[in-house]
Amino acid sequence: MTAPPRVVTLLPGDGIGPEITTAVTTILEAAGAGLAWERHDAGEESIKVSGMPLPPATLASIRRTKVCLKGPITTPIGTGFKSVNVTLRQTLDLYANLRPVKNVPGVASRYGDLNLVVVRENTESLYSGIEHVVVPGVVESIKVITEKASTRIARFAFEYARAHGRRKITIVHKANIMKLSDGLFLESCRNVAADYPDIEVNDVIVDAACMKLVMNPKQFDMLLLDNLYGDIISDLASGLVGGLGVTPGANLGETCAVFESVHGSAPDIAGKGVANPTALLLSAVMMLRHVGDEACALRVERALFAALEQGAARTRDIGGTATTLQFARAVAAKL
Ligand code: NAI
Repeated sequence: MTAPPRVVTLLPGDGIGPEITTAVTTILEAAGAGLAWERHDAGEESIKVSGMPLPPATLASIRRTKVCLKGPITTPIGTGFKSVNVTLRQTLDLYANLRPVKNVPGVASRYGDLNLVVVRENTESLYSGIEHVVVPGVVESIKVITEKASTRIARFAFEYARAHGRRKITIVHKANIMKLSDGLFLESCRNVAADYPDIEVNDVIVDAACMKLVMNPKQFDMLLLDNLYGDIISDLASGLVGGLGVTPGANLGETCAVFESVHGSAPDIAGKGVANPTALLLSAVMMLRHVGDEACALRVERALFAALEQGAARTRDIGGTATTLQFARAVAAKL
């Protein structure tokens, strides 16, 4: 008797989201992933349908299935709705943002053989959303750092390091200037580090970390950061291995997990059929591992790497000519 399909919430998202999610679901189906999608809306498209950027039915689905594959969602600048990404992470308490930064075969990059893991606190810091006008022309934005959230993300990072044979964690901060907030983050991380004498630990100020990453990224193994620095540094790090088109990610909590690429909705190329689904496909591979299907994860990963290496799946952003559709066909052909 075959096992019933694993139900997963699917949010195609905005911009290039629907194009890349179609490519990814096509490949997963061809790989026999045994998933049943519960498709829901979120973001700009959702506003057109229901008037809400994050309808209750979408949240309820993720709470029920506990696993979600999510396309990028546009966040309007200035006025408009609050970021759906931030709301999802805060509401579902997806406190750990895990972003492996690794070379992908067949994708030219500044550095070969890079294998970094970025761990970003996902619920607070300057993403607390607490902003107000003091008087016209003066605004305040509140950076919230708590011992509880900082300790929790540090514990996650050190446990991850142990479980995955990582040797060193670098805490990234700006505690020289933000003495209380970043100071608390640093102190909380150091306190947790004391429980893991087998893992080497050091800390670097965020501006220096940017320079060191560009000059010599191999000195790092895992980076542990608050929400804002983690957001910026993970984009920088993705640029070291071929760009946003190839870097996956996971938002993990105690009960739910949302898998998505690091990149956004790429409005400049949306609807043109040229977007690279690699990052979302690698996020789906992380998701397959999360639900315990290592065999299928490996099958998809190998097919992707083979198709990229031969060039048939290389899209424009990584120096190829493949369209999103040709990418899906090329990877599926390698399964
Ligand atoms: P972006 O990541 O969408 O695009 C930056 C550049 O990378 C663009 O030139 C784009 O064409 C390219 N790019 C990104 N993904 C690509 C892919 N898969 N294949 C080929 N090229 C790709 O960043 P941007 O323009 O700053 O943000 C656009 C929107 O996305 C904004 O509304 C932003 O708030 C939102 N966003 C959403 C995220 C999410 O849903 N997790 C994450 C980051 C941004």
